[in-house]
Amino acid sequence: MAGATGDLGFRIAQALLKRGAVVRALVRPGSTKPEIAALREQGATIVEVDFNSVAQLTAACAGTACVVSALSGLRDVIVEAQTRLLQAAVAAGVPRFIPSDYSIDFTKLPDGTNRNLDLRREFGQRLAQAPIMATSVLNGMFTDLLIGPAPVVLFGLSRVMYYGSADQPLDFTTTANTAEFTAAAALDPTTPRYLRIAGEVLTIRGLQRAAGEAAGRRFKLLRVGGLWVLGAMIKVTRALMPNSDNVFPPWQGMQYLHNMFGGLPKLAPLDNTRYPEIRWTSVREVLATRK
Ligand SMILES: NC(=O)c1ccc[n+]([C@@H]2O[C@H](COP(=O)([O-])OP(=O)(O)OC[C@H]3O[C@@H](n4cnc5c(N)ncnc54)[C@H](OP(=O)(O)O)[C@@H]3O)[C@@H](O)[C@H]2O)c1
Repeated sequence: MAGATGDLGFRIAQALLKRGAVVRALVRPGSTKPEIAALREQGATIVEVDFNSVAQLTAACAGTACVVSALSGLRDVIVEAQTRLLQAAVAAGVPRFIPSDYSIDFTKLPDGTNRNLDLRREFGQRLAQAPIMATSVLNGMFTDLLIGPAPVVLFGLSRVMYYGSADQPLDFTTTANTAEFTAAAALDPTTPRYLRIAGEVLTIRGLQRAAGEAAGRRFKLLRVGGLWVLGAMIKVTRALMPNSDNVFPPWQGMQYLHNMFGGLPKLAPLDNTRYPEIRWTSVREVLATRK
């Protein structure tokens, strides 16, 4: 596993250990993150590795059945570091690779509409050339974001904010469910190129109902405008902060919402029933945990 010290990666590593897998976590040299001690205690082997060195990565990948990436970053990580990890996996004879995709269905998006997902499509082209079996897990938006930075369910105003149509189906999966599914897929030797999951598919009206049930009060809809309004806001916001090194600047989240409200990256068909032991957490359940 690469990225096991991150939010999603830590949970994938834990889900793998829970399933009895032998987990080797590749971490940056000298990292003192508390997740490392926790993973070691839970039975993972920790290997410090220079992610710029294909030779070190190859040695770290030797003898494994699947390389799982949950790295997060921009081109230097998603395209460059993952390419070195891929080269290492191939050199070490690892049969399978799961890239750090975990998103809406970027295979259906045109270039230029989502900076972070363009990078995943670019890495996907390199993956397609490599002699290794690859599987991407596509999960829509992390449901957790609805009680975090995603400005959709506005609890203070009792409104659900959106652009475009209130009837566009949207995919939501919790980080925990995405991790459980990814762990199951990593241990399943016959996965297809893409696996698509959604803990719950809801329209904006469905979100309005879920928010009302979770908060015990009525939520109204707040339609800011058509998709073109959001598109114009993205252009303006991006012009004000063009060269951001931040992985998730405000305009990136707006691009994600623009994609989702437009419907192109809707996940279909869903593979939710592939591992029947997974219990999917609903949007209402997540909204109800908001403090
Ligand atoms: N669908 C959604 O709504 C959604 C939402 C959030 C995230 N995601 C996706 O989930 C995946 C994981 O994201 P996350 O939120 O778990 O990320 P995160 O918490 O920021 O963790 C990122 C991981 O990558 C490692 N990393 C970053 N740069 C590295 C480098 N140059 N060399 C080696 N390791 C490096 C970090 O190591 P250190 O601990 O050493 O820094 C950490 O283990 C990403 O693909 C992200 O886009 C999807």
